[in-house]
Amino acid sequence: MQSTEEQPVKLANTEYPIHELLQKRWSPRAFSEKLIDTQMLNQLFEAARWAPSSYNEQPWRFIVARKEDQEAYKQLASVMNEFNQSWATDAPVLVLALTKTTFDLDGRDNPHAGHDLGQAIAHLTFEATKNNLYVHQMAGILPEKARELYNISDDYKPMTMFAIGYKGQPESLNDKMQKQETSPRIRKDLDEIIFDGEWEE
Ligand SMILES: Cc1cc2nc3c(=O)[nH]c(=O)nc-3n(C[C@H](O)[C@H](O)[C@H](O)COP(=O)(O)O)c2cc1C
Repeated sequence: MQSTEEQPVKLANTEYPIHELLQKRWSPRAFSEKLIDTQMLNQLFEAARWAPSSYNEQPWRFIVARKEDQEAYKQLASVMNEFNQSWATDAPVLVLALTKTTFDLDGRDNPHAGHDLGQAIAHLTFEATKNNLYVHQMAGILPEKARELYNISDDYKPMTMFAIGYKGQPESLNDKMQKQETSPRIRKDLDEIIFDGEWEE
């Protein structure tokens, strides 16, 4: 599968001008077979590493599996639900994202670990976009299976997975996913999410 040119329809149709990488980022399901080299992969996680976090706890952890290591890749792929497996296993890299749920310092619960993990993944995503790579995050995973397979203790929580890769051809997907792959991206209006000094439901 060859990667295709960016489809303009997927560019965010913004009300106000934003950085072109933010505008360009989206979550494809069609990935090319092109592998990601180690230097590039490390670059992406370097971006994640420099995200801010509550108390600078850096409560993000990542289990990474590359297509080159078939056994490790197959094992990590089995942590996704069936639907996500149906498209994400074309991607050259799969990642399981975990939070450390307790503070290193005193073992108390860290209520902001999920917030910080999301922020680290956002950093990684924009570094990926800059390098023509795409990231598709997934909540559709089997956290308890991950716990068993990787022997993960209660201090850590498998939260999400994400696929990373170069963009592929939408034609590689089934009809429904193909339609989603090429349809315009939509968002709530700004006035639905911003409240001017007052709360309104
Ligand atoms: C935490 C999270 C979980 C998601 N879970 C899934 C998933 O399980 N399967 C899937 O196909 N897409 C999943 N997505 C992708 C979203 O559907 C997608 O980000 C959203 O529709 C907005 O589209 P865009 O990223 O292309 O702008 C997830 C995204 C996030 C951030």
